[in-house]
Amino acid sequence: MKAFIKTYGCQMNERDSDALASDLVNAGYTIVSREEDADLLVFNTCSVRDAAERKAKGKIGFMRKLKNKNPELIIGVVGCMAQRMGNTLLEELPHLDFVLGTGQLHTLVDTVNKVKFDRTRLALTEPSPDVLTGLAGHYDRSWSGQIAITRGCNRFCSYCIVPYVRGRELSREKDDIIAEAKMLAANGTREILLLGQNVAAYGLNGDIRPPAPDHSPFADLLAELEEIPELLRIRFTSPYPSYFNRKLIDTIARSEKICHNIHLPLQSGSNRILQAMNRQYTNESYREKVAELKAAIKDLTLSTDVIVGFPGETDEDFALTRVLMNDVGFEQSYIFKYSPRPGAKSASMDDSVPESVKEERNQILLNDLAERVVVKLNNMVGKTVTVLAEGVSARNELRWTGRTDNNIVVHFEPDDSVQTGTLRKVEITRAGSVTLFGKLV
Ligand code: 5AD
Ligand code: SF4
Repeated sequence: MKAFIKTYGCQMNERDSDALASDLVNAGYTIVSREEDADLLVFNTCSVRDAAERKAKGKIGFMRKLKNKNPELIIGVVGCMAQRMGNTLLEELPHLDFVLGTGQLHTLVDTVNKVKFDRTRLALTEPSPDVLTGLAGHYDRSWSGQIAITRGCNRFCSYCIVPYVRGRELSREKDDIIAEAKMLAANGTREILLLGQNVAAYGLNGDIRPPAPDHSPFADLLAELEEIPELLRIRFTSPYPSYFNRKLIDTIARSEKICHNIHLPLQSGSNRILQAMNRQYTNESYREKVAELKAAIKDLTLSTDVIVGFPGETDEDFALTRVLMNDVGFEQSYIFKYSPRPGAKSASMDDSVPESVKEERNQILLNDLAERVVVKLNNMVGKTVTVLAEGVSARNELRWTGRTDNNIVVHFEPDDSVQTGTLRKVEITRAGSVTLFGKLV
């Protein structure tokens, strides 16, 4: 039996798909890379932005042709769009066999069996606590591994569909996470990426009030993961800014393994818009947090998420975002054009900013980013950096690539001793527009 899995959206979805692939392999499937070769097609979908849903819907609709050719083919839609639409998807798409929501992903193998043997169609969207202990398998074993530590979100930012499709925030048991990290490390993983919609809220039992300065179960988890000797680097995404308390900042600052590259979603630099977004910080308090982080963490680099064109965003609001972004000097920014999401609070607000203005603001921020990145990369020339070697470059087989602690890709010529998943020093000789070039030291 052969299965094909396609993933839309975020890293959490990538991670879920990998766990689903592992469950399928344990059930006797082989994972294939072409739809045409498979007996089972699984589409793991995203609802965060309208564009992601439209893309998935287009592709899934197109699969009707394959089903016509092979009526035994089983097709399922899982994840956020499956959760949001449930039975409606089965009604809209007669060639679909099953729909599994975000709280039912762990039932994939059982569901496929039921569909096959009972010759039935199923839509399961009831959340189940078992999803938290399931989905721990790993199919793609490499030097880098991902571990989900929380699921869902309690923050209810007004534009965001996540709390509705992924449900309330739940943290996994620490022992389960540590066991998963040790299993990966024993199998050759050297870098782990901890995932959650709001990772820094780990272990706070869904309380959205920022914790006391000396209380951070997330910092405790990081400290314990650091003790795993084979792990060389620990990354995490995404944390909500207000959870960076003294304890968490100190834990990161002290650590040799926790990367000094933090994703700190900003969304907007205008206090009026931040309030309408239900973000619990202001332009000023965000700047203070950045200053605190920069003071404590040597060679800190920051990345962010920003939404342009939120309902009512004026030129002045946008200018505040732009100035703040340039002041902070983000190394990377992910800029999104606002789209109303069904069920999210902002969907009832007038989507007042014209598409052309959203696009214009998007381009302005992308240009700012590109200019900043060129300057920063050129400043690196002549310096020696430590990279985690990843393997042969996809673009030039004579070169290898590695990544700095700060997530910058470095191309270098390999020597005989270079190995995937090891730390190497590279002297930077040249800067490209988004990557660096250098030689092994
Ligand atoms: N429109 C545009 N961008 C959105 N995001 C979340 N919801 C929306 C929306 N309705 C962005 C936010 C978030 C990222 C994952 O997606 O910036 O941080
Ligand atoms: Fe969505 Fe806000 Fe939760 Fe992030 S913190 S997942 S933007 S509700």
